[in-house]
Amino acid sequence: MQDEFVFDSLYSISSGVVQWRSPSNIALIKYWGKKPVQIPSNSSLSFSLSKCFTSTKVSFKKNNKKGINYQFFFDGKKKPRFENKLDYFFEKISKYCPYLLKVEMVIESSNSFPHSSGIASSASAFSALSLCIMEIEKLLNPKLEKPFFFRKASFLSRLGSGSACRSIIEKFSVWGKTDLISNSSDFFALPFNLKIHNSFNDLCDTILIVDKSEKEFSSTKGHELMNSHIFGDARIRQAKSNLSLIIEAFESGNYELFIKVVETEALTLHAMMMTSNPYFILMKPNTLKIINSVWEFRIKENSKLCFTLDAGANVHLIYPKSEQDSVQRFILEVLSCYCENGKFINDMIGTGPFKL
Ligand code: PMV
Repeated sequence: MQDEFVFDSLYSISSGVVQWRSPSNIALIKYWGKKPVQIPSNSSLSFSLSKCFTSTKVSFKKNNKKGINYQFFFDGKKKPRFENKLDYFFEKISKYCPYLLKVEMVIESSNSFPHSSGIASSASAFSALSLCIMEIEKLLNPKLEKPFFFRKASFLSRLGSGSACRSIIEKFSVWGKTDLISNSSDFFALPFNLKIHNSFNDLCDTILIVDKSEKEFSSTKGHELMNSHIFGDARIRQAKSNLSLIIEAFESGNYELFIKVVETEALTLHAMMMTSNPYFILMKPNTLKIINSVWEFRIKENSKLCFTLDAGANVHLIYPKSEQDSVQRFILEVLSCYCENGKFINDMIGTGPFKL
């Protein structure tokens, strides 16, 4: 129990509406494996996106019923499918936000990116919802300060989905205690506070939609399998070493090193899946075709284009803004034929969440 995050108000508010928008994020150093409750096995590093975000509105009014009372609508429709995850989330956070037990809520959410595009939305969804909850807390406690507001929002969103805690932060974010980054924590994410060379300040991320169907294997299950994974300890050591290398690349502007770390992390994530017990594969044949084409393009064009992967078949192309035109041409001429219905989403490093 993290006592600093418990806020039990003597007062309640009769009604109100709060609204936040929060982006998705893409991890460069991957979080894969956790201990209860949502404590990462290794530190991860990501950047938040701009165009892929969730907007959430919470309307609440006083109520005397027992427990947490809410209704959830996604794109204006009830989504009972999401309620298990939400019930679990509210169960976990109610001790930190007991004021939620005194209200009933209508939660209305929508995503900027197409529904079922294979893009994970739990990070943007739980971060947007947690920011709304903190906005309610702020109504009860107007003295609440900005750094604490975001720290607790990150803390709460972590309990919904681990990677969500990084979406609260603009640009680069670190989650997970490490002696490489001062003040880092297992309980919430913080801005990456070391030097970042200019070359990394305008990163673009184009998400190639290889497969928009639902994952056959949930990330919850994947994380769980890391506890008994034959390469589990080695992976934790590797993640630490890769974090240290990416810090070095950020500081010096060494793009070659950056690419090596980012692609190693992506392939290791999937190697862990393929060597779990039971094993599983989330990449598709077109994922590999894209990876090979990226490698060819990088050599031929002397490019800084690289790729990373989430827990799915889609490929994130990471490149500096200066290469936007050539990479867009490459996508249209070569890569789009490997995408489902030719679909891809152009995004870039973002400015973080904001109140609507
Ligand atoms: O946040 P979760 O529990 O859905 O896990 C996500 C893990 C990866 O997206 C695969 C990696 C990461 O660090 O975001």
